[in-house]
Amino acid sequence: MDSENLVRKLGIKHIGIIMDGNGRWAKKRLLPRMAGHSQGAKAFKNCLNSCVKSGVPCVTFYAFSTENWSRPEEEVNSLMKLFCSFMDEMMKQDDQNIRLRFLGNRSRLSDEVRDKMTEAEKMSEKNTGMWCCIAFNYGGREEIINAVKTTALMYKSGKLDIDDLNEDNFSDFLYTSGLPDVDLIIRPSGEKRLSNFLIWQSSYAEFVFMDVLWPDFSEKDLIDALIEYGKRNRRFGGV
Ligand code: FPP
Repeated sequence: MDSENLVRKLGIKHIGIIMDGNGRWAKKRLLPRMAGHSQGAKAFKNCLNSCVKSGVPCVTFYAFSTENWSRPEEEVNSLMKLFCSFMDEMMKQDDQNIRLRFLGNRSRLSDEVRDKMTEAEKMSEKNTGMWCCIAFNYGGREEIINAVKTTALMYKSGKLDIDDLNEDNFSDFLYTSGLPDVDLIIRPSGEKRLSNFLIWQSSYAEFVFMDVLWPDFSEKDLIDALIEYGKRNRRFGGV
């Protein structure tokens, strides 16, 4: 079965990808860590193309977490630069009908990064194809706290009756508002944890952990993850 039929048959609506292992990929080659991130950006593009080809309706890539600020300043600054040049490239190549969206708290980001986000979202808002979300300065706990603050403000201004609050309308206050819940989380690099990624949205997701390092992640790895997902029996708490 080809990957498009596989995604359709499995009913996958949203895949989350934790791009992990860039540093180890570089270290194995005696290269600076940034060489791993640059190669990781290439793997990101390839993976996005594979998602388009496979008919995945929505994919979210974890590119920079709220915890990543604790890395050396030089690495953080280089990641910000890489992000900006990556977005320039994506915007130059707006030929796949992809809608871009950024998840995370933008207040700590530089004007340059924020402007790229606004520009890319605006440029792609006319598109009608898949969603490509990039979680950048994203943390699942921060996202929930932010949504709680919005809820409190809505309550205070009389726009929300607390008895009307439910999982659906609370989800509207998250960065992922309007997007489907995550069906599948893929984490390469051998680590087996969620690291504060889409913690609300992945409540019932299946997890596929793979040994490949992110810069080496290929279309075959994506298909292998889909096949593994297909073997799972999702019961959503039922029997
Ligand atoms: C985790 O690997 C990776 C990151 C924190 C950065 C991910 C960034 C990219 C894939 C580059 C493309 C993204 C953009 C748009 C900036 P790690 O560095 O923790 O790897 P390690 O665990 O092997 O050290």
